[in-house]
Amino acid sequence: MNDKHEQQQTKTSANFRHLNTDTLRAENCLNDDVLPEEERRQLEIYAQQNWDKFYNINKSNFFKDRHWLTREFPQLLSGSESERKCLMEIGCGTGSTIYPLVKSNPFLFCHAFDFSKHAVTLVHTHKRYRPDRVNGFVWDISKAPIPLSMGVKPESVDLITSIFVLSALAPENLLPSAIRLNHVLKMGGQVLFRDYAAGDHAQLRFGTQHKLGDNYHKRSDGTLSKFFTEEELEGIFREAGFECSDMKRSEKLIENRASGVSMDRSWLQAVFTFASSCFILSERNGPFLFHKKSKKHS
Ligand SMILES: C[S@@+](CC[C@H](N)C(=O)[O-])C[C@H]1O[C@@H](n2cnc3c(N)ncnc32)[C@H](O)[C@@H]1O
Repeated sequence: MNDKHEQQQTKTSANFRHLNTDTLRAENCLNDDVLPEEERRQLEIYAQQNWDKFYNINKSNFFKDRHWLTREFPQLLSGSESERKCLMEIGCGTGSTIYPLVKSNPFLFCHAFDFSKHAVTLVHTHKRYRPDRVNGFVWDISKAPIPLSMGVKPESVDLITSIFVLSALAPENLLPSAIRLNHVLKMGGQVLFRDYAAGDHAQLRFGTQHKLGDNYHKRSDGTLSKFFTEEELEGIFREAGFECSDMKRSEKLIENRASGVSMDRSWLQAVFTFASSCFILSERNGPFLFHKKSKKHS
């Protein structure tokens, strides 16, 4: 979570201190000690409260509108008067992903949910909020399937955006959450994904007293931060019935004016296409029991 005060650059300026593995190691900031399991479990239990506190403090001021989305995922501009498209944004925050889309694509309807009540209130009070364009609701994707009472019909969604959200989930909730996405998508529908990559320098910057597991850390405000490898991300979505049609790792040098440091940030961007249905038979006492039933693309 580094939107505020940061600027994307291609070349570092001389007056910024560049953070990389060597400088962090020299400053004794790298440590592989994992925090106790009980601490990790408490953070996972309180994730919703911690995000709610975050939005209560930061309101809509933290995440900038994501105007790059239609450049990176041109399918977000699809649709016409006679063929309206339905999008679902998971973990929508205050709407920094959906509101630029509502503006640039008049044929898009957006379901948008987040488990933070404060965030969803800010979605509803946004100046571009209109109930015929946006259905905003509170839901925790890691707990249960999205119910019909929230206005999302099964197999009705063309596109799902997952923008820096799955990294906020506990790793054991990733597969069940991905399976829940395929319940609402139309066959052939797509998940458009961007999130932190393993090796991102924000991960190195966590330093000591933050590590919860492999590529899994806590932030100082108690929210969780997972960093993905290409293999594990593709594996999760494959298990959940998706085919990976595009995956790339992007890197950018970021300068933070407030702290005077520069870092190489890395994220993964991917498109997952819903290819086969997948059902959870039992969520109790893990591991998951589920079976797949292949359907033909329509
Ligand atoms: C980094 S923010 C990204 C917000 C938004 N997608 C954007 O592009 O700006 C991560 C969001 O995921 C939400 N979130 C985390 N875990 C969630 C869960 N289990 N169910 C629903 N939302 C969740 C948080 O409340 C937060 O708003």
